[in-house]
Amino acid sequence: MQSVVVTVTSGKGGVGKTTCSANIGCALALLQKKVVVIDGDIGLRNLDIVMGLENRIVYDSVDYIEGRCRLRQALIRDKRAPDLYVMPTAQTRDKTAVSAEQMVAMCDELRKDYEYIIIDSPAGIEQGFHTCLAPADRVLIVTNPEVSSVRDADRVIGLVEAQEKGPAQILINRLMAARVKKQEMLSMDDIVDVLSTELIGAVPEDEAILMSTNRGTPVALNGRGPAATAFHEIALRLTGEEVPLRVQQPVSIFHRLFGKA
Ligand SMILES: Nc1ncnc2c1ncn2[C@@H]1O[C@H](COP(=O)(O)OP(=O)(O)OP(=O)(O)O)[C@@H](O)[C@H]1O
Ligand SMILES: [Mg+2]
Repeated sequence: MQSVVVTVTSGKGGVGKTTCSANIGCALALLQKKVVVIDGDIGLRNLDIVMGLENRIVYDSVDYIEGRCRLRQALIRDKRAPDLYVMPTAQTRDKTAVSAEQMVAMCDELRKDYEYIIIDSPAGIEQGFHTCLAPADRVLIVTNPEVSSVRDADRVIGLVEAQEKGPAQILINRLMAARVKKQEMLSMDDIVDVLSTELIGAVPEDEAILMSTNRGTPVALNGRGPAATAFHEIALRLTGEEVPLRVQQPVSIFHRLFGKA
């Protein structure tokens, strides 16, 4: 089976990695792809809550890696899509509980059965990031349209390139068209320009995300709003379909703030 490991990461925390991992996983599964989404944020697990599966955890990835269960036992089947599985992580361990080699080995096992393996990485550039990067065929770097987030994304792009992983692509999350128009927020073009990295898509700020997170139902499962649409478009692009990017108004503040061409 042709299998792709997609690591979803960022420099800055809280930019939407878990939200994006869950929704892209759901959108791919609704395209009839066999998908597993792995929570790579060991000790700070969140993916299970965003996906509403927290009450179904019996074993987790650390139990599998340390030999307390079989791979299948650690996977939770999400019945809302044809072939969607979640691999939760341990809540009581730290980021050193899984090494890069162990993550690669686990993904190699999963590659036998799944077409897309999405890894929700922790924030930062420490060991947890390297562990999640190790098995990646593709890397999505989530950034918000703000200077500090973009600068951290720039740093991560450099690290991904240094590890010869990728190609890295940027995913802009929480874009607000009205604020871009008023030149209060960086535009898609500005961010792409300064990061010189391909864009996989831009997800708008959408209050449906908040409710969906509280309910444990990712918007991509049944939502038709702007964020859900963006996630479905990103999933299609991951499968190789050409879906045009929506272009926002360019603004000029970015270069002044950042001093970078
Ligand atoms: N497009 C969006 N519109 C509105 N709210 C969003 C959007 N994306 C994410 N959020 C909200 O932002 C918050 C952070 O999201 P999330 O937990 O996915 O970030 P993260 O990058 O995984 O964080 P961490 O670095 O802590 O793992 C959540 O409350 C989520 O609901
Ligand atoms: Mg997260």
